[in-house]
Amino acid sequence: MTDMNNTPQNNENDYLVEVEHLKKYFPVQTGFIDQIFSTEKEFVRAVDDVSFKIRRGEVLGLAGESGSGKTTIGRVTIGLEEKTAGEVKFDGVDLSTLSNEELRKLRRRMQVIFQDPMASLNPRMSLGNAIRQGLEIHYPETKDQHRDMVLGVMEKVGLAPAKFYYNKFPNQISGGQRQRVVIARALVTKPELVLADEPIAMADVSVRAQLLDLMVQLKNEFNLTFLFITHDLATAKYICDKIGILYLGKIVEISDLREIYAHPLHPYTIALLAAVPVPDPHERRQEPMPSGEIPNPIHPPSGCRFHPRCPYAQEICALEEPELRELRPGHLVACHFAEQFK
Ligand SMILES: Nc1ncnc2c1ncn2[C@@H]1O[C@H](COP(=O)(O)OP(=O)(O)O)[C@@H](O)[C@H]1O
Ligand SMILES: [Mg+2]
Repeated sequence: MTDMNNTPQNNENDYLVEVEHLKKYFPVQTGFIDQIFSTEKEFVRAVDDVSFKIRRGEVLGLAGESGSGKTTIGRVTIGLEEKTAGEVKFDGVDLSTLSNEELRKLRRRMQVIFQDPMASLNPRMSLGNAIRQGLEIHYPETKDQHRDMVLGVMEKVGLAPAKFYYNKFPNQISGGQRQRVVIARALVTKPELVLADEPIAMADVSVRAQLLDLMVQLKNEFNLTFLFITHDLATAKYICDKIGILYLGKIVEISDLREIYAHPLHPYTIALLAAVPVPDPHERRQEPMPSGEIPNPIHPPSGCRFHPRCPYAQEICALEEPELRELRPGHLVACHFAEQFK
């Protein structure tokens, strides 16, 4: 899927997104008394040294349980949130070197599809006007063409006839259609990068596959680059070229999607894959996730963060944090004992 476009091999411009050693710590809100008596400020280590690159036209998935830092990575990557440390580059430009005005201009090249279309649409604004807003902000010079551009993109996402839907309001359409509006609004500014943050998680099961098909189709048609966030690997399978598995703010495994499905090397990934439901209800193979809650990112476990839940953990796992290592070509894993799964 990835290498169909005409990009030459590894020149630097190949990458639209480059994230290096990204950290994002949020200060913990403490009560007044705690603030007086505590000597150290505490932090939620939402993202703790994460690196990845996305080539043009590629879809990188990030998968992990709730609270693993997916949304925060997405928001920092497109400059909606400031990082604590590390580097984020878009098309070779370090976001932290940009003024607010420059960042605002760059925004039309990166758009977001959020999880909850109801929360991201103004109930009092017509669908057409909601989609049109981005054009007004980013392309004020082509004002007289905006209506036609909006109608065009509405047809593309399946809101047809577009003239019928243009003046409707969010509460007059279905949930699946609302997510189509959100997709249209993201695409109308002709972005290069789309951050999709669990875009189908709230949609009705019956329309999820259609929405995924739509995103795949639009990705191919406009050669979009995606950062695709999901909590389940079944969704990732439809659309992702590469996938990074997150656990408590760290990437524990990253590789091509097919490679990960064929040769998972991290015990957490193996557990996630075992939890992917099998389509045929007669052939239920769904295993439970490893026991235990996802631990607290304020005081993550020592050594390997997954060790309290890991069926293969040994003494060293509580003592030493495993580095990401390339155990198979292009396939990185952070586990002291991953060789046994090779
Ligand atoms: N604005 C914030 N202030 C404080 N903590 C936050 C904030 N945003 C996220 N967090 C915390 O950071 C961690 C990762 O959150 P998030 O990125 O939303 O994870 P995910 O999208 O994988 O569910 C969680 O522990 C969450 O509570
Ligand atoms: Mg999230």
